[in-house]
Amino acid sequence: MTTTEREEGTAPAASEGVLVRARGVKVHFPIKKGLVFDRTVGHVYAVDGMDLTIRRGETYGLVGESGCGKSTFGRALLQLEELTEGEVDFDGTDLASLKGEALRAQRQHMQMVFQDPLGSLDPRQTVEQLLLEGMRAHGLAKDGAAARGRLVELLAAVGLPRNALSKYPHEFSGGQRQRVGIARALSVDPELIVADEPVSALDVSVQAQVINLLEDLQGEFGLTYLVIAHDLAVVRHISDRIGVMYLGALVEEADADDLYAEPLHPYTRALLSAVPVPDPVVEDTREQILLVGDLPSPADPPSGCRFHTRCPWRQETRCDDERPLLRTVELPGVPDSHRVACHWAEQIASGQLQRHQVVPQDVTDPTEASAGGDDASLGAKGVTDATG
Ligand SMILES: Nc1ncnc2c1ncn2[C@@H]1O[C@H](COP(=O)(O)OP(=O)(O)OP(=O)(O)O)[C@@H](O)[C@H]1O
Ligand code: SF4
Ligand SMILES: [Mg+2]
Repeated sequence: MTTTEREEGTAPAASEGVLVRARGVKVHFPIKKGLVFDRTVGHVYAVDGMDLTIRRGETYGLVGESGCGKSTFGRALLQLEELTEGEVDFDGTDLASLKGEALRAQRQHMQMVFQDPLGSLDPRQTVEQLLLEGMRAHGLAKDGAAARGRLVELLAAVGLPRNALSKYPHEFSGGQRQRVGIARALSVDPELIVADEPVSALDVSVQAQVINLLEDLQGEFGLTYLVIAHDLAVVRHISDRIGVMYLGALVEEADADDLYAEPLHPYTRALLSAVPVPDPVVEDTREQILLVGDLPSPADPPSGCRFHTRCPWRQETRCDDERPLLRTVELPGVPDSHRVACHWAEQIASGQLQRHQVVPQDVTDPTEASAGGDDASLGAKGVTDATG
């Protein structure tokens, strides 16, 4: 079997030790119109074909621009969002097969930490009440003395003083509040934590502390993480593997070191080129790829490769009309675990295809845009030549 024939979404070497497996996950929100009759006039394709596995004990970093569907996917994993299509297996159980009490019991194993701790914590409840709420819901607070002991342990684990129990969320700083949010997620002894932008609302000086805390807790409690961020720099040090999302689906996935060392998808290359490098010499000479145009609307995503309206390597064949699969690539030194959804990844990496200027499609006819200019993309003939 060639690499391109490999079934979409089958991550190599990812069956043993898998905790979560999402296959073909789609979440489409209907757009309604009309005062009397609610007519569906379209859909927001928030998540549109996500295949992803998370191994037990690892940290998977999921990154992408605002609005690309990261939070919706995180919520869909935890069954907080109804799937339009696809399935999610958690520890071998198809979550869609669980209803009512069985699903509620399953939720104990999957918790979420939110971006805005103030908004996600009930302001009328003390920390003690907040922590006990989840424990009670899962029958973990039946013995009062044991529950009290557990609360003290939780506070110590997240670095909060014992007297925090009687305080309300507004009495804490942002970083401390996020510690309360993390303690609440931990209180039911979960296996998976989906941390959705856990530090983006915090001061830069506090961000590293919370990231370090998450790392320490992972070792202590054997946790598995999905960490969502819009910034590649945030997930860099904490993640074992990273998935880059664009308009509802993964465009690249690799071990963290491999992704930073050799990004293969044009979108990832552009994202990474925007991350400043501390060395001034490298900073002055490194390749910078500016993304032209905004993220297209997920209610009207581009055909073919979703990135083609902004891609500096876009080609006239395939890019506009054939959606690329997430696949392994045939390049020396690139492991099977590194997957990319681009028809031309090999030719771009080898330098056979050069980047060109992108003219936003709403300004000029797309065919003219790619054919014109000194260093315009290769046309159909050029592509044939490039691939031999
Ligand atoms: N309940 C909903 N109904 C309709 N559209 C929604 C709903 N929830 C999210 N969306 C839309 O789905 C798309 C993806 O949203 P989502 O919040 O998942 O993105 P995100 O990647 O988490 O963005 P951000 O980085 O800003 O948090 C957006 O266009 C959003 O407006
Ligand atoms: S498939 Fe085409 S448009 Fe999409 S990333 Fe690759 S070169 Fe760019
Ligand atoms: Mg979000």
